[in-house]
Amino acid sequence: MSPVTVRVPAKVNLELVVGSPRSDGFHELATVFQAVSLYDDVTALTGDHLTVSIEGEGADTVPTDDSNLVLVAARMLAEHLGVEPHAHLHVHKTIPVAAGMAGGSADAAGALLALDRLWDARLDRDELVELAGRIGSDVPFALVGHTALGLGRGEKLTPVLARGHFHWVFAFAEDGLSTPDVYAELDRLRAGSVLPEPRVSDALMSALRAGQAVALGAALSNDLQRAAVSLRPDLSMTLDVGDEYGALGALVSGSGPTCAFLAGDEEQALDLAVALTASGTCRTVTSAVGPVAGARVVDS
Ligand code: C5P
Repeated sequence: MSPVTVRVPAKVNLELVVGSPRSDGFHELATVFQAVSLYDDVTALTGDHLTVSIEGEGADTVPTDDSNLVLVAARMLAEHLGVEPHAHLHVHKTIPVAAGMAGGSADAAGALLALDRLWDARLDRDELVELAGRIGSDVPFALVGHTALGLGRGEKLTPVLARGHFHWVFAFAEDGLSTPDVYAELDRLRAGSVLPEPRVSDALMSALRAGQAVALGAALSNDLQRAAVSLRPDLSMTLDVGDEYGALGALVSGSGPTCAFLAGDEEQALDLAVALTASGTCRTVTSAVGPVAGARVVDS
């Protein structure tokens, strides 16, 4: 079989409403995901064992033991198909690691789709999405892409009508943040509060329907932001730079520490990127657009 390469996007949560912790340790969520044009490539090749190699952004910080989500995905798909999990998976990373942009989830989604083709299984999308949800809360969205509402722990997806294209600037931080630590910090900060069932705002949905960047910027929100900033107070300086230089909205992406800024157009995005870089409040800055498609085969 010839190698199969799958390109998978990162995500930003336009709104993330976190409910109470559940008995399984996860939190009930209502979130709107948007896939953005920052990609990891996952290539599946034939092999005698199951192996993984990683290059690119943050590659040396990704574990290559059994906890690697690419290997988890490969084993899960092989078991589902009743085949041996024999393949080599190579990941080329552009999405930062442990950054709140679902990079690990993207790699798992890429491995599922690439191996589905390498092993000539051709499962339908729904079956792949169901397997993806067992790997992690954000893995189904990496397959589906575009803009989607996520309920449950984020894995129950419904497409959202979003008009137009939005211009994003992302400020990457020096070190990652652990997602469980950020949720635990939120629980600590909200201890004793009675939380309503999470739901996303009408303001966000209508901004997306209308394709209005100004309204979208005003409606962006993330319950995990206060927890991420509590653990990493320096993030508030990065967010302030965005506000100061005309971002339509600024928020922590997912569990952070990446900060996401919405710009009105490409030129404003460039100005914002220059200001953030010059501020010295982050490691590196990149621009992207959203929404974009989910995982797709680019070369086979
Ligand atoms: O699903 P995933 O493996 O990406 O989740 C990583 C961790 O994030 C979980 O172990 C849990 O601590 C936290 N989490 C949560 N509620 C969610 C999603 C994730 O508490 N809905």
